[in-house]
Amino acid sequence: MQKFLIEGGIPLKGQVQISGAKNAAIKMVAASLLTSDEVVLENIPRIDDVGVIVEIVENLGVKTEFLDEHTLGLRADEVFSSEVPHSLGVKSRSSVITIGPLLARFGEVTIPEPGGCRIGLRPIDRHLMVLEKLGAVVSHKGGVYKISVPRLKGAEINFDKNTVMGTENAILASVLAEGETVITNAAEEPEVDDLIVLLVKMGARIKRDESESRRIVVEGVRELAGARHRILPDRNEAVTFAVAAAATRGDVTLTDVRPLDLTAFLAKLEKMGVGFDIQKQTLRVWLEEGTALEPVDVESVPHPGFMTDWIQPFCILLAQANGVSLAHETIFENRFSFVDELLKAGAKIEVLTPSEAGIAFDPGRYGFEWLEGDREPKVLARVHGPTSLFGSRLAIPDLRAGATLILAALAAEGQSETSGVEHIDRGYENFDEKLRNLGAKIERAELE
Ligand code: EPZ
Repeated sequence: MQKFLIEGGIPLKGQVQISGAKNAAIKMVAASLLTSDEVVLENIPRIDDVGVIVEIVENLGVKTEFLDEHTLGLRADEVFSSEVPHSLGVKSRSSVITIGPLLARFGEVTIPEPGGCRIGLRPIDRHLMVLEKLGAVVSHKGGVYKISVPRLKGAEINFDKNTVMGTENAILASVLAEGETVITNAAEEPEVDDLIVLLVKMGARIKRDESESRRIVVEGVRELAGARHRILPDRNEAVTFAVAAAATRGDVTLTDVRPLDLTAFLAKLEKMGVGFDIQKQTLRVWLEEGTALEPVDVESVPHPGFMTDWIQPFCILLAQANGVSLAHETIFENRFSFVDELLKAGAKIEVLTPSEAGIAFDPGRYGFEWLEGDREPKVLARVHGPTSLFGSRLAIPDLRAGATLILAALAAEGQSETSGVEHIDRGYENFDEKLRNLGAKIERAELE
């Protein structure tokens, strides 16, 4: 186990290349199960969550080879198992994305209840609803799902609430199904569309409705072929570095980004008074010494709105604004567990229920399930700024919260120690090295 030692208070300066998107790469590795031809993925991020899904498909019989540092070839021509190994399935929630392709191609799958970040309960009922609609039979015993079907049949699938991986599983399952599948209230995150681009290259027939973007129609085909695809850039990594630039009052140029995917984030930066400039696929973000940041309210919602994964790092900027801001998380019920750690570094943040914040609680507004009788969730952070953060010992509880605590340590005066580095390695490629290249003082050390 490792920790980071960080000497804060240094404005970050320079250029950083954004890696391929974790949340697209994982699904594309799983998509390789749909064909016996080779699928080549360029711009693969070298992170642990991708390592886990690669290990899962290898265990099923997929041959994989890194053609260079960021190009992965996968060939599923001799798959001998449709059982996701328990030890790997519980490591990451993303293992659930193998269900669609395995069922589509082999008609059966055995998978343990998935693991993942502790940001909420994160059930998989919406995935199971999809599979049952497509004709599969699901059994659940002793923490293991067994799902089977002779051949999936196209169906009408409507999601009551947004689900990114649920939508992706619906697409992955229906591309080889018999007949047409219509998915309504489908997620429209850029990573979903990038997966569709890959599948269409493989021969799938998928169309997102031009007039109704949350409607996707999939016409099942008999088989798919190989393809080569460059994965889109990681929006979450881009936001993390953009916040790092502003929070340290630095000046950082992010290369290989898609600024259009960051529109909701950039709108908030503008309101706060953070400087930025867009040139094609680069984004420069800076904050001049002496600039007073304006407080803003943010609410996470599905794309094209402000993304749930941005809420936590954004709190570091809000903590430096001149006044009170409200961050409202509506997708997961437990995004603010890291705030206790942030308080140690001098932040002044209250974590509240909607009623406590003076907002009428309407369960229909939230992405997670809420049952009558459950307590109101603490989904609001009231952030009081400006605060001077100081170096402290911080324990990282999950991926985005971890990045947030590191941002806090970079903005703080003095030395910080953050344990739980393994959460960062799951989702950020060479995070510490990229930060060091921008002038940060951050070192890895073994936990005593
Ligand atoms: C994806 O998770 C991402 N993960 C998450 O990124 C991201 O935060 C999230 O989408 C929202 O954009 C991957 O792509 C691997 P959901 P996903 O299904 O698809 C509830 C990161 O750090 N729900 O859209 O699992 C769920 O609990 C991560 O990179 C059900 O109740 O999210 C949540 O409250 C974390 N039942 C809400 O819906 C279900 O069957 C939205 O989840 C499915 C979801």
